[in-house]
Amino acid sequence: MTTEYVVLNEETPDPAVIERAGQIIKNGGLVAFPTETVYGLGGDALNPASSKKIYAAKGRPSDNPLIVHVCRFEDIGPIVREIPPQAVQLAEAFWPGPLTMIFHKNDRVPAETTGGLDTVAIRFPSNTIAQALIKASGGYIAAPSANRSGRPSPTLARYCMEDLDGRVEMVIDGGQVGIGLESTIIDLTEEEPVILRPGFITQKKLAQVLGNVDVDRTIITPDSGIAPKAPGMKYRHYAPKGELVILEGSRGNVVAEINKAAAKDRENGIRSGVICTDETRDMYSADCVKSAGARGDEESIARELFRILREFDDENVGHIYSESFREGDLGQAIMNRLMKAAGHKVIDLSDE
Ligand code: TXA
Ligand code: MG
Repeated sequence: MTTEYVVLNEETPDPAVIERAGQIIKNGGLVAFPTETVYGLGGDALNPASSKKIYAAKGRPSDNPLIVHVCRFEDIGPIVREIPPQAVQLAEAFWPGPLTMIFHKNDRVPAETTGGLDTVAIRFPSNTIAQALIKASGGYIAAPSANRSGRPSPTLARYCMEDLDGRVEMVIDGGQVGIGLESTIIDLTEEEPVILRPGFITQKKLAQVLGNVDVDRTIITPDSGIAPKAPGMKYRHYAPKGELVILEGSRGNVVAEINKAAAKDRENGIRSGVICTDETRDMYSADCVKSAGARGDEESIARELFRILREFDDENVGHIYSESFREGDLGQAIMNRLMKAAGHKVIDLSDE
C-alpha cells in the first residue's frame, strides 16, 4: 500500500483532507494523526476488522487494548454501561485533553478493540485536527500511539512515516506535538479511582478534583512481579538501540561518572550519548550530547524525551547515559517512560 502524506495546519485544517481521511477510516482503513500527547494510529473503533489491522500495522500483541477517541462527551453514553459521577467531574476539569478514563463497555464496542476486556478506555483529545478527524470518521476512533510496537511514541509525523510507511493509508502531519508523553490513564471501574499510567494530568491535579487517587502499585514498584492493570504497561517499551542507563545523585557526581564512562567507551571504540539539560550540556565529553531543555522546564523535557531517544538510534551510539528527572510535577510521568526505556537500569550516585 502507498501511504499518502499530508501536512495540515492545526488552526485551519483543510476540510477536504479531513473529509478524505474520515472516509478512509469509515471504509475500514488506517490514518495516523496528531493529538496533543503523541501521534495516534487511527481506525474505526466499532469495526473489529479495523482494530485487527491496527494490531497488524503496529506489530502489537492483540491482548493490549486500544484507546477509543471521541470528540464530544455525549458520545460516551452509547458505548459504556454506566457513567460514574467521577467521570463527569473529570471531564469537566480535563476534557478535551490528555486524560483517558476506563469504563465498563457495552456490546457496541467489539472485543477486538479492547483486547478481550469488558472495559473500554476513552479519551477526548484537544488537538483540533484530531477532533475534526474523529467527527468525520463517525465519532469513534481507536488509536494507539502511531509507533511500531516497542519503539518510542511518535512526537513528529516523520516518525510515523519511519515506522508505518506502507502500512497505513494516510499520515497527517500536524507538526510537533505539545505534550510529548501519552495521556494519563485513570480506571473508574473499581471502587476507588486508580491511575494506571502517569501523564501530563498528574496525581495531584486528579486529587484536586476527586479527593484521594491511588496509583497502580506496579508503576511505583515496577519489579514487584505483579501484572499491571493496563496490559500495555507490562511490555518493554521505548527502548533505544543503544544501552541506556540513568544516573542519579548530585550534579557533580553524575557529570563526573558519565564523563568517566564515556572516556572508557572511547577507549573501547564505542560511541556514547548523553541525555541532559541546558545547564549541564557543556560539561559532558561524550560523543553525542542532547539537552531536553532547561532543568526547571519539565514540560520541555516531557516534549523532547521521545524525540531524543529516536535520534540516538540514528546516531549509532552504543551506550546512552541519562540524567534523572524525578523532581517536579511531571517527574512521575517522565521517569515512568525513561525507566522503561532503560529497562530500569539506574545507578545511584547520591552521597550518603
Ligand atoms: O495519549 C495517548 O493516550 C495516545 C494518543 C494517540 O491518544 N494513545 C496511546 O495509546 O498511548 P496506546 O495504545 O499506545 O496505549 C494505551 C494504553 C495501553 O497501556 C493499554 O494497555 C491501556 O492504555 N488500556 C487501553 N484500554 C484499557 C483498558 N480497558 N483497561 C486497562 N488499560 C487499558
Ligand atoms: Mg503506545
